[in-house]
Amino acid sequence: VLMTVALAVGAYLIGSISFAVVSSKLFGIADPRTYGSKNPGATNVLRSGNKKAAIATLIGDAAKGWLPVFLAVLLQDKYNISDLDIALITIAVFLGHLWPVFFNFVGGKGVATAAGVLLGLNVWLGVATLVTWLVVAYAFRYSSLAALVAALFAPFYYGLLFGTDPQLGAVIVMSILLVLRHSQNIANLVAGKESRIGSKSKDAQ
Ligand code: G3P
Repeated sequence: VLMTVALAVGAYLIGSISFAVVSSKLFGIADPRTYGSKNPGATNVLRSGNKKAAIATLIGDAAKGWLPVFLAVLLQDKYNISDLDIALITIAVFLGHLWPVFFNFVGGKGVATAAGVLLGLNVWLGVATLVTWLVVAYAFRYSSLAALVAALFAPFYYGLLFGTDPQLGAVIVMSILLVLRHSQNIANLVAGKESRIGSKSKDAQ
């Protein structure tokens, strides 16, 4: 039990690092929590017009989701890590991104982090979900819509690959939280007011 708690806390702390805030500081641009959707995420950092900062955010947030899950899966047999432990690590790193201890518990919407987590659970699961995101993003040019559709598909991909196990539960929880985090985006989409990928924020600089 102690090891499980330690792993989950470690994953939560890693998840709490907001690469949107960190990379914006490094690239010398405004804090993404002050412009656009105010979301500390790659999509909103892109609204600053600084592509490098947005890509750094995407890679950082994905990598922090990927690392703890990938390691847990890799070392599962060696260290007797249970499926339930992996499920808890999966949820913990994601919760860190959504409610980061380092940023007054105000975090992002979890898209890049979820992508990293899914890649960590299984490469094909990650690739299938990413392709889903890309297809919808390419077709409709809404980052949020792509994330919502990908989040709906991810549990099905997991179930097809591995059937039902604790990790499937974690993927479902992650998808539900991701969708709930996008309530404003859903309202904007329905109202036809959601901003498309590539449109910059007037108040970004
Ligand atoms: O990456 C999150 C994305 O799905 C929506 O972000 O900034 O458009 O609310 P945003």
